[in-house]
Amino acid sequence: MLGNRSVTDFDHTHDQVFPVRPDLASTAHINEAGYREAYDQAASNPEAFWAKEAQRVAWIKAPTKIKNTNFTGDISIKWFEDGVLNASASCLDRHLAERGDQTAIIWEGDNPNDSKHVTYRELHEQVCRFANVMKGLGVGRGDRVTIYLPMVPEAAVAMLACARVGAIHSIVFGGFSPDSLSNRIQDCNATLLITADEGRRGGRSVPLKANADKALASCPSVKNVVVVKVTGGKVAMQPGRDHDYATLVADASPVNEPEPMNAEDPLFILYTSGSTGQPKGVLHTTGGYLVWASYTHQNVFDYRPGDVYWCTADVGWVTGHTYIVYGPLANGATTLMFEGIPTYPDASRFWQVIDKHKVSIFYTAPTAIRSLMRDGEGPVKKTARTSLRLLGSVGEPINPEAWLWYYHVVGDARCPIVDTWWQTETGGILISPLPGATALKPGSATLPLPGVRPLLVDGDGKELTGATEGNLCLSDSWPGQMRTVYGDHARFKQTYFSTFPGLYFTGDGARRDADGYYWITGRVDDVINVSGHRMGTAEVESALVAHPKVAEAAVVGFPHDIKGQGIYAYVTLNAEEEPTEELRKELVAWVRQEIGPIASPDAIQWAPALPKTRSGKIMRRILRKIAANETESLGDTSTLADPAVVTELVQNRVG
Ligand code: WTA
Repeated sequence: MLGNRSVTDFDHTHDQVFPVRPDLASTAHINEAGYREAYDQAASNPEAFWAKEAQRVAWIKAPTKIKNTNFTGDISIKWFEDGVLNASASCLDRHLAERGDQTAIIWEGDNPNDSKHVTYRELHEQVCRFANVMKGLGVGRGDRVTIYLPMVPEAAVAMLACARVGAIHSIVFGGFSPDSLSNRIQDCNATLLITADEGRRGGRSVPLKANADKALASCPSVKNVVVVKVTGGKVAMQPGRDHDYATLVADASPVNEPEPMNAEDPLFILYTSGSTGQPKGVLHTTGGYLVWASYTHQNVFDYRPGDVYWCTADVGWVTGHTYIVYGPLANGATTLMFEGIPTYPDASRFWQVIDKHKVSIFYTAPTAIRSLMRDGEGPVKKTARTSLRLLGSVGEPINPEAWLWYYHVVGDARCPIVDTWWQTETGGILISPLPGATALKPGSATLPLPGVRPLLVDGDGKELTGATEGNLCLSDSWPGQMRTVYGDHARFKQTYFSTFPGLYFTGDGARRDADGYYWITGRVDDVINVSGHRMGTAEVESALVAHPKVAEAAVVGFPHDIKGQGIYAYVTLNAEEEPTEELRKELVAWVRQEIGPIASPDAIQWAPALPKTRSGKIMRRILRKIAANETESLGDTSTLADPAVVTELVQNRVG
């Protein structure tokens, strides 16, 4: 149940508590008493609580029905169901009078000499123009638009333009392969693809248009492709299908009326990995998602006008959706969008960007912190970072060592760290400290936000009380919750509500301490978290067995110093094949090509056979132990069809 953490990770942190800074207790949006009060109100009268919080977004018609959710039967989740709004208008138009000339997006390029500021007025105009372009291409309410773009402002423009015309965007991370892109386009039958000539990352270019062309060979639903010129690299343009973004936008009218959308109309689909099968299209709707994005962005980051806020995620992941685009823009914030990577041109880049743009709130992933820790304090300490006042962490458990380094070295022991636990499915942060309300413990995501009802259950679904450890579930809905799996409501029900009937099961394990603090221990299912990116072991396995020389494969996660978890693959070759070093490299390259670089196996072990039960089920528990080099505690192997298989695997362990 400890997921990818060991017991000792917790032990030496038990005593360390960082109390709320007194100045924050008096100035933050929510202090400790305020948190208790909000928590109780949201629990006892969610209708009243969320009717009030709903006012934070701009409604065309304010909702009168607030909550209508059911975690049993067919599972139905509706928030603000008679409200009408447009997410793009709520993020842009409503700000024009008050802060039209304020910077909405600071874009920092991969190259440190490239940056630009886009004001709310400019962003609004770009979005209106592109919304008109989309309409001209026949895209409207309910149509699906796939976005395969690098971290450029046009990515935010494309998202908001979709929202403006009522189309549903589906962003595919630029690191995914043509095959992955094609599967995601086919699943939702997108009619428009928005991509770029090339992306830029760490001084190298990523061939997005070339990848898209390969993907589109098997995507007949796509009628039009809009190509943003990012690097100016030479790309093929198919007449009639492919269009140049800049030309279309220049010719389009800057006036566009936002489409009035129902609160429960879909806003976006985002594909994410689960324990089985192909990635599923997590569907978020408009009203509840936007309220949750705004509420959590304001309170968790204690956002105030004048802040420069930077979330280092990519818009291809949910963190980029909620905390680069929708949350900050709903709140009229200045959000920084970074095209590059933490180590280019060198390991000081993050901190230089913070100084350059006077960033006050910085939100990143533990894997980035751990990789930068390797270079020591030097690259951090040569920068000032005096603008910083708050730090955040997301994507995976942050080990106490990394937390303390982040706190002392990056934050100069001045900035609280909000360790925010959430998922693609939850739309936004659910468990996190509030800077003015919550004492911090390194490695703990601390307490649930108002409206969030976590509980821990044992394997039989029995609730565990007090200080304990178990499967993390949520007993009631919150506005930002996903509504369904796109096109497959049965899968939604099966994946999240069948393990423990009546509860939403997160797939995570957690420990709760005597103060009621949650310590997320990692996934308890067959999902692994590689550098904060979710990867289904089943996906990597099916990529491996698709190779003509592979007979069988089993993939598990193992503890990795930088990535949190690495990918360990056991591969059984066809009878006539020789296990060579070349073949090992070929298989790594194969998986990269099938799924994308984030799925590259860190270790491949040749397995003459896999440990199976007599009924033929692979015993992953044993494979995880071998990969983690915990071969002393393999547990009961007596149910195996052939126990000798295990001895062989232990002897030939890789790494
Ligand atoms: C993990 C990313 C511990 C968790 C927002 C979850 C975390 C999965 C944390 C979701 C955290 C995310 N502490 N674990 N602060 N944040 N996780 O969908 O296992 O990409 O289930 O959403 O990441 O990953 P996803």
